Amino acid sequence: MVPRLGVNVDHIATIRQARRGTEPDPVAAVVMAELGGADLITIHLREDRRHIQERDLRILRETVQTPLNLEAAITGDILQQIKQYRPHYVTFVPEKREELTTEGGLDVIRHRDSVKSAIEFCHELGIPVSMFIDPDVAQVAACAELDADAVELHTGAYADASTKAKMAEELVALKRASTETVACGLHLHCGHGLNYLNVTEVAAIAHMEELNIGHSIISRAVLIGMKQAVAEMKSLIVAAHAARHLP
Ligand code: PXP
Repeated sequence: MVPRLGVNVDHIATIRQARRGTEPDPVAAVVMAELGGADLITIHLREDRRHIQERDLRILRETVQTPLNLEAAITGDILQQIKQYRPHYVTFVPEKREELTTEGGLDVIRHRDSVKSAIEFCHELGIPVSMFIDPDVAQVAACAELDADAVELHTGAYADASTKAKMAEELVALKRASTETVACGLHLHCGHGLNYLNVTEVAAIAHMEELNIGHSIISRAVLIGMKQAVAEMKSLIVAAHAARHLP
C-alpha cells in the first residue's frame, strides 16, 4: 500500500493570523493541496487558536474532497468542536501553550483515564481516533488497550537527529514501534519534521499507511510560488506606470 499523504495547512493560517486578515485562506490552500494529490488534509485547532480558527474547521468540513483529520488536545472545548463539526477522524495530541509546535507525543499511559474517555467520546460519534505518541512500544500497547484505531508515531527525534548514527538509531525505534503497532492491529501513521530529504526511509517502513506533513511542504510552496507572485506584482506596477503616460 502506498502511504497516504496528509497535508497539514496550519502554517497557511499562521500567515493569515499575522495580520488577522483573510489571506492566505487555508480553505484555498486545501483546494490546491488536493489538486496536487493530497490524500487527506490535516489541521490542528489549538486551544489558543493561534492559527486554525473554528471558521476554517466549519468551512473545510463542508468543502474538503478528501478526509479531514483534526489534530486536537483533549479538552472540553475541543471535544465540543469535534461534536459540532464531526471531522472524518481525530488525532489526539498533547498541547502546551508556550510551545512553538507539538513537541512530544501524548503520554497515553500517564493520561489513560482522560484518553480513554476521549476515545469513547469520539467512538460514540462514529469518529475513528489516532493517537500521536512517541515511538515507544509501551505507548503503542496502551493505545491498543484503550481501543484507539491508529497511532501516529512522532518522527521529530528522527528528523531532528544531529548525526547520521543518531538518525539511524531513531529509525530503529520507529521501526520497532511500527511493528508493535501492526501487531496490535492498529493503523500506522507517522508525522512531524518530515521533509524532502528524510521522508524516504519513513515512507518505506512496512505497513506505513499515512504520513502527515506540514512545515516542509508549506516552506517549499512559498519558495516555488515566490517568483510568480513577484512577477505579477511587478507587472501591475509597470502597467500602472504605462497608464500614467496615456493621454
Ligand atoms: N503530525 C502531528 C500530530 C503534528 O502535530 C504536526 C505538526 O502540527 C505534524 C504532523 C506536521 O509536522 P510538520 O509541520 O513538522 O510537518
